[in-house]
Amino acid sequence: MNTSRKITENLFWVGTNDRNLNRFEHIMPIPDGVSYNSYLLLDEKTVLFDTMDASFIDIFLENIEATLNGRNLDYTIIQHVEPDHVAALPLLLQLHPETTLVCTDKALQIIGQFFPTLDFSKNTKAIITVKDGDTLETGKHHFTFITAPMVHWPEVIVTYESTEKILFSADAFGTFGALHGPLFADQYDFELQYLDEARRYYSNIVGKYGLHVQNLLKKAESADIRMICSLHGPIWRQNLSYILDKYQKWSSYTAEREGVLIVYATMYGHTESVVNLVAGKIADSGVTDISLCNLSKTDYSYAISEAFKYKNIILAAPTYNAGLNPLMENFLNELKNHNLQNRNFAIIENGSWAPTSGKIMLNILEQTKNNSISGKILTVKSALRDEQQADVDEFVHSIINH
Ligand code: FEO
Repeated sequence: MNTSRKITENLFWVGTNDRNLNRFEHIMPIPDGVSYNSYLLLDEKTVLFDTMDASFIDIFLENIEATLNGRNLDYTIIQHVEPDHVAALPLLLQLHPETTLVCTDKALQIIGQFFPTLDFSKNTKAIITVKDGDTLETGKHHFTFITAPMVHWPEVIVTYESTEKILFSADAFGTFGALHGPLFADQYDFELQYLDEARRYYSNIVGKYGLHVQNLLKKAESADIRMICSLHGPIWRQNLSYILDKYQKWSSYTAEREGVLIVYATMYGHTESVVNLVAGKIADSGVTDISLCNLSKTDYSYAISEAFKYKNIILAAPTYNAGLNPLMENFLNELKNHNLQNRNFAIIENGSWAPTSGKIMLNILEQTKNNSISGKILTVKSALRDEQQADVDEFVHSIINH
């Protein structure tokens, strides 16, 4: 069944929504699903932007055929070759060998790696490999290709169309969360319905490559952009400065909130008791913007996202096998891998006979860039003792007065 949707007079959404996949990239939970967006322009020439995930090839091809309505597919622009967007390419090319494939050299190389039996010479009219600033005319529409390496893979391009002033942004400005009917961000309460998932998507998917996202934002600065069509989530056509500002903050590792995030792991609740005590004392001091994330229950990707949001981060974890609780170790290694910077950390460790988790947390943090550590490690031996109240007060004072 044709499920394509009209965006503007000549532009159509031919994507799908996935509410069945449990984990994006089989790593991050996506309880609200995800959309795989693909766009088809009907100009004097027809132009497709990206293909589809393997799970939805049939419906995608139906959307293409219904929208083309008997016309040839003149150009297929591949902006990003991660399989959630490129899996349908071999079947598409079988159906439309008249198409000219447009992508970067790097994209062509990686497509060849994913599909070693794909014979481009049989299944395409031509291949155009593009570089930064190259252009394409399709009638009334004029496209400029902008290379965006590492947003999210090295082959990525985004594409600016100057007649309707649309930025086809590949993964950039995307979000987790399937579309619930409306196509446009202004038809939702974005802050309520998508912002947390947009941040979790950004921080976990492209958070590591802030510098590359900053480069893309600089390149896009001079363009008059009226619409952003990402490969995931709703299309932006109003209040674009809202999402651009979020990307500016996230990619420069600037905290959105000055409050306190407490990320913790707990085995029998003793570490969690200390966290509750600390959170209460922080609140009593007047700082009430506090977020708690229990790694023993919550997937690390949510904690990464919260860490991109908050300026001050308290880490609390038990010692385990003479090392660090593995949930906290994974989280901290991911935080390091995601390049989070400009944060102020404080550490609480627990250990019943030889507490070592604090030293290991400190060691991982010391391998990160531009982060500071407040005060001394607060050490708990099994459970907090009453006589440690002064130590807790000092610990809280150090983080809120940083
Ligand atoms: Fe939506 Fe990097 O793929």
